[in-house]
Amino acid sequence: MSSSSPTPTIAPATGRLGVLTVGLGAVASTLIAGVELSKRGQGQPIGSMTQMGTIRLGKRTDHRSPLVKDFVPLAALDDIVWGAWDVYPDDAYVAASRAGVLEHGRHLEAISDALREVRPMTAAFEKKYARNLDGDHIKPTSSKRAMLEAIRADINQFREEKQVDRVVMIWCASTEIFIEPGPAHMDVESFEKAIDANDETVSPAQLYAYAALLEGVPFANGAPNLAVDAPVLRQFATDRNIPISGKDFKTGQTLMKTVLAPMLKARQLGLSGWYSTNILGNRDGEVLDAPENFKTKEESKLGVLEHILEPGTNPDLYGDVFHKVQINYYPPRGDNKEGWDNIDIFGWLGYPMQIKVNFLCRDSILAAPLALDLVLFSDLAQRAGLGGIQEWLSFYYKSPQVAPGLYPEHDLFIQLTKLKNTLRWMMGEDQITHLGREYYDEA
Ligand SMILES: NC(=O)c1ccc[n+]([C@@H]2O[C@H](COP(=O)([O-])OP(=O)(O)OC[C@H]3O[C@@H](n4cnc5c(N)ncnc54)[C@H](O)[C@@H]3O)[C@@H](O)[C@H]2O)c1
Repeated sequence: MSSSSPTPTIAPATGRLGVLTVGLGAVASTLIAGVELSKRGQGQPIGSMTQMGTIRLGKRTDHRSPLVKDFVPLAALDDIVWGAWDVYPDDAYVAASRAGVLEHGRHLEAISDALREVRPMTAAFEKKYARNLDGDHIKPTSSKRAMLEAIRADINQFREEKQVDRVVMIWCASTEIFIEPGPAHMDVESFEKAIDANDETVSPAQLYAYAALLEGVPFANGAPNLAVDAPVLRQFATDRNIPISGKDFKTGQTLMKTVLAPMLKARQLGLSGWYSTNILGNRDGEVLDAPENFKTKEESKLGVLEHILEPGTNPDLYGDVFHKVQINYYPPRGDNKEGWDNIDIFGWLGYPMQIKVNFLCRDSILAAPLALDLVLFSDLAQRAGLGGIQEWLSFYYKSPQVAPGLYPEHDLFIQLTKLKNTLRWMMGEDQITHLGREYYDEA
């Protein structure tokens, strides 16, 4: 996509938008509760660009900065209808209570009826992909073909029952074990064969993603496991013109990293080591306690520094960086993750310095607005006729998805510029390049 491509025609956001979350745990229940509270004026969707962000249009002297939601035709929160799958039968009210993110008296009771209405469908699940889970609200089959067809049937039943006009699917389920794209993921023929052969490298996440694409439904992935980034599904989404984006919500420590690392690089300050550790006590932390599941997360978290710092082009500054990331399961903290970063840097003549970051965050409070934005922007992309990889949504991900052969942009502010310029392009507004000659050129 380039700014010289013709401005797309965007179909209006009429009717209802069905949002299907795979997983109804901490993030999904916090998303649903937050939207329901916002709809009723009982909470503010803080952290959401689509709801609270503004976008500058034209020159700085024009003073035009509408809200993003007033600028691009997004689905209204009132038009969202929820559906979900989970390994446990808990409805969204019970799931939110168990997750312990939101306060009962202040937030859950007021919307308990709406939350109780969101009851998960049985999950396409196999324990080998997340062995620390033991729910039994699962589809009564271990055949991958049968699971795929059951998910497709669920999507269609949801469409009919809830009378929705459009559907978006977002993976908010546990992180699966690490799977690298292999022979099964190269093209539709081998993928179809692998499904019939119950090939282990085809995980439930890939089945949900494939089912979504087969049903013309955009797919966003909040976790780092392989899904629409498998070559077969990337190509399939491109061929069918269905929006897909990256994976793994960029919420806490990695958000910080993709702000601080560009700062070091901007000032040509060197880096010798970055040690990141976390304690986390929710179900996500429990799943990530299994080494095969943590490996998936580790790969996603480790990737960002290398792409930002480009050691090949700056070997004196970044040629020898020790980067370590750990997550420790520590139940007393629940969803309130604490992250520590120790960053060893060096400056003028090589003198060493240190930066310490201690982020006491709330995982799902940070993730819910990203999930909302991804859902609304994926729907926008589809109505604008934009299919395949939506690189402008990199802003939301630890592992942005990019065209084969391209390296991903991880710098948060480059991602933000890309996102906003894409919105300007969609609406036929000028790109903002920050050149700014016009303010100084004599007329
Ligand atoms: N919160 C954050 O800041 C953040 C950031 C990046 C990524 N993530 C990822 O988002 C995901 C959700 O996080 P969470 O805190 O809500 O976790 P959670 O454990 O509270 O919820 C995940 C839910 O998914 C369900 N599930 C697992 N496999 C499933 C399947 N095959 N089908 C249907 N349901 C399934 C589980 O039963 C669980 O209820 C995790 O993978 C996490 O790593 C979260």
